[in-house]
Amino acid sequence: MIISAPYVAVGSGDTDRTPVVPRDMIPAEAGLVEYHPGREIDLTHYEELDDAERRIVASAVDSRKSEFGDGRWCAHRALRGLGEDGPILRGDKGMPLFPGTVTGTISHTRGLRVALVGDAGRWRGLGMDVEVAQRLPDGVLSAVSSPSERRSLQRAAQRAPGCSLGTVLFSAKESVYKAWFPLAGRFLDFDEVELHLDVRARDTAASTDEVGGGWHARILSQPSPVPTVDGHWVVRDGYVVTVCAIPR
Ligand SMILES: CC(C)(COP(=O)(O)OP(=O)(O)OC[C@H]1O[C@@H](n2cnc3c(N)ncnc32)[C@H](O)[C@@H]1OP(=O)(O)O)[C@@H](O)C(=O)NCCC(=O)NCCS
Repeated sequence: MIISAPYVAVGSGDTDRTPVVPRDMIPAEAGLVEYHPGREIDLTHYEELDDAERRIVASAVDSRKSEFGDGRWCAHRALRGLGEDGPILRGDKGMPLFPGTVTGTISHTRGLRVALVGDAGRWRGLGMDVEVAQRLPDGVLSAVSSPSERRSLQRAAQRAPGCSLGTVLFSAKESVYKAWFPLAGRFLDFDEVELHLDVRARDTAASTDEVGGGWHARILSQPSPVPTVDGHWVVRDGYVVTVCAIPR
């Protein structure tokens, strides 16, 4: 039973923040919770976790414990909005195992942690990724994209000048992987997905530097539980955000 799908962002010290992820990117009836950490490494959320969750990263460095704790804190808060909760353990290859009848996805980057959860009866898979909006390091774009994808990025760039579209492509592929892996149960490499972005006008009332659009990804590796995955992207407030949902 859905109590109330949350759409909230919280800063350190429990302050209200404006979400980076636009509401119109959230799949129907799914809940989004963001945490905007301060500059210092803070283990408060990690220390509040269940023992079994803490054990997953018990031997990691503090920065990893901190992002892990924050990501799970977001996910638990989102889960409670859907009337569920319980330990979020780690499955094969690092995938989060959501309790009950819920599916979800977690991402963290510098200054931002996010979790998106939805009803597994409605969504087979959810994928979300956040990255700092900056150019990919040299050599990365050619490692994660095909010549045809790079040609299509160049065309898209004419409609989004100055935008880190290489990072958007990279992030969108990571979102596809996060939604797809729990269904397929195997690794998917960057050259096993052909992904093309489009650039759409957005209502920029909330932000002055916002550009976004959609994407269409075709899974080249067979067999695949789904032939394609569609999603949305935005560059906003210094972050690239990509989201996809695989419907039932
Ligand atoms: C797993 C991966 C996508 C994570 O992305 P990232 O940008 O490094 O890190 P993010 O903070 O955005 O996401 C990390 C979260 O992803 C989730 N995750 C990790 N492995 C996962 C998997 N196999 N399936 C689904 N979700 C996974 C976890 O919740 C993790 O956070 P946690 O460990 O704190 O629970 C990335 O490290 C990776 O292995 N990529 C290679 C595969 C790939 O992307 N292929 C693209 C094919 S088109």
